[in-house]
Amino acid sequence: MEQTWSIRLIRFAAIFGLIGTFLGAQMSGNMDYSLRPIHAHILLVGWLSVFAWGIFYKVYTVKFKKLVAIHSILSMIGAVGLTLGMWMYNINPFDLNETLVMVFFIVGGTLLLLAFFLFVIITFLIEKPGKQQ
Ligand code: HEM
Ligand code: HEM
Repeated sequence: MEQTWSIRLIRFAAIFGLIGTFLGAQMSGNMDYSLRPIHAHILLVGWLSVFAWGIFYKVYTVKFKKLVAIHSILSMIGAVGLTLGMWMYNINPFDLNETLVMVFFIVGGTLLLLAFFLFVIITFLIEKPGKQQ
């Protein structure tokens, strides 16, 4: 379980890393920094945090396997939700209803927050070092 989710998280992070650095390059080239917070969260949340979680699952064995899947899914949905929500909220490229966009942003952010919360719990629910696979 951990191995499967580990590589999924790392692949997801790699894609976010590419998107985030591409955005950074665009921002530098255009000298348009309106996407700065989106760039920052794509890289800090989508690339660095998700990558770290992927490596955690590679290294540790968690006692309750379902938590690995729940946390991984939550973290991926949270990373997409937060960054997409922030983009829609800050820029509103499709001119959508403001309340709708705000709710999307809040839901994305909350899911990510839950992923961080669940991760704290998971760090206390690992197999003892001798029992690691
Ligand atoms: C892992 C890689 C990276 C991370 C974690 C990262 C993170 C960040 C963060 C946190 C900010 C906001 C800084 C602030 O609030 O002042 C930022 C801004 C910025 N980043 Fe990145 N970044 C990365 C890579 C890149 C790359 C590869 C480029 C360009 C090719 C780039 C271009 C920019 C630009 C142009 C800004 C805006 C600077 C400004 O507002 O003056 N970043 N980045
Ligand atoms: C629940 C999740 C999160 C929410 C709702 C959130 C929201 C925000 C908001 C609203 C801003 C201000 C953006 C602006 O200036 O327009 C911000 C800035 C920032 N956040 Fe987050 N954030 C979250 C998680 C994180 C995490 C996990 C990290 C790092 C790992 C992070 C790093 C930063 C940084 C570096 C800035 C400054 C970016 C800049 O100056 O452009 N955030 N965040």
